[in-house]
Amino acid sequence: MARLRGRAPHGERLVGKVPQGHWKTTTFVAGLRSTALTAPCVIDGPMNGNAFLAYVEQVLAPTLKPGDVVVLDNLSSGFRRAVPDNVEFVTGDCGDATLLSTLFDRHNFDAIIHFAASIVVAESVTDPLGTYRNNTENACTLLECAIQHRVPRFVLSSTAAVYGEPAISPVTETAQTSPINPYGCSKLMVECMLADVASVHPLCYAALRYFNVAGADPAGRAGQSGAHATHLIKIAVQAALGRRDGMDIFGSDYSTPDGSCVRDYTHVSDLVAAHIDALRYLRGGGQSITCNVGYARGYSVFEVIDTVKRVSGADFNVRVKARRPGDPASLVASNDRARAELGWTPKHDNLETIVRQALAWERKLGLESAADRGAREAAVQIATSSRAAYPSHDPSASLAPLDLASKAIAYD
Ligand SMILES: NC(=O)c1ccc[n+]([C@@H]2O[C@H](COP(=O)([O-])OP(=O)(O)OC[C@H]3O[C@@H](n4cnc5c(N)ncnc54)[C@H](O)[C@@H]3O)[C@@H](O)[C@H]2O)c1
Repeated sequence: MARLRGRAPHGERLVGKVPQGHWKTTTFVAGLRSTALTAPCVIDGPMNGNAFLAYVEQVLAPTLKPGDVVVLDNLSSGFRRAVPDNVEFVTGDCGDATLLSTLFDRHNFDAIIHFAASIVVAESVTDPLGTYRNNTENACTLLECAIQHRVPRFVLSSTAAVYGEPAISPVTETAQTSPINPYGCSKLMVECMLADVASVHPLCYAALRYFNVAGADPAGRAGQSGAHATHLIKIAVQAALGRRDGMDIFGSDYSTPDGSCVRDYTHVSDLVAAHIDALRYLRGGGQSITCNVGYARGYSVFEVIDTVKRVSGADFNVRVKARRPGDPASLVASNDRARAELGWTPKHDNLETIVRQALAWERKLGLESAADRGAREAAVQIATSSRAAYPSHDPSASLAPLDLASKAIAYD
């Protein structure tokens, strides 16, 4: 890890060239619907379904065939329902070399989009090896398999955490990478591996350094669904909806205008669009590239909370706690490179809109949970009334409480 600190960003090296001539696919590429779909793409960790909605709408809707895209997820924090039925889904681990090999033998993958990871910064501090195992070691296995099967393109979910505490804001991709938590280190290591691999193998990659992903599908079909949310906007909207007893914020003594941390909140639909743009770029012969994905505009934690209160019309308790280890004061992206090289054009750059859609999604989740609970309670009643016939069965064992706990949870 010490080796990484202060090291120039490896991803800056423009290495490798896309093998030309034999690819003709539109998998996960926007705006090329008429091109033949011949080569499949594998995606692991589906951004809570948002990646698929964009993919299906923008690329495959008219022509999607089974096998055009394969999704691999171990469901450790994801949900099977996030993936549409017409997309092949495999439950499994991206670090399972045997499974990967079987999959890669079966499909002639044209690209890998590697979302799967452990993402909670605070957990990476308390369980660094778990984070390195999932983020770095598993990526190594995946890359090894990609090389063995000559997959030519790889898109990585990287992170602003590789910068640590950037000296300049907005931070450009040429800034020194100096992560201050194991999560950032684990992702920077993957960037380094990609650059090294691409310099000796026919693989091109795009490492997309996301800033803070937020919001939900504008049509309300997908959004963050995990019960143990760690993201500020998700937690604030849960507080606004009364699903938790207020919320904690960590540190109000940072060197920022109001003392709370500043982050660049990027709508998930724009983030997914960046992947589509990145694949189009790589398929068009673009060289390996590292790009920030953010809006070049930061909001403080207090500003976000004010926005949630204003948009929801609800007040809630905000408790100021001590700083958490591993949190930089400010992370705001320069997005010039993504715009210029990938042709990325964000369309949802509005904090109020992001909050409104996050709220709508959270309300929907609550209604679905309530409906699920109602169905489970009905099932319990039916089962209870037939207990005499099945005395050993305890139907209440399957009753899960609504798990939107009010306990203090750290967020990114
Ligand atoms: N959410 C953000 O603000 C943010 C910011 C920067 C970078 N990122 C990166 O974006 C990616 C997606 O993040 P997210 O917010 O959707 O997280 P998430 O936890 O919601 O999704 C991760 C997905 O990966 C799956 N997964 C985890 N480990 C796996 C494994 N070993 N094999 C197969 N599947 C596995 C999970 O089940 C889940 O579906 C991650 O790589 C993360 O580091 C996210």
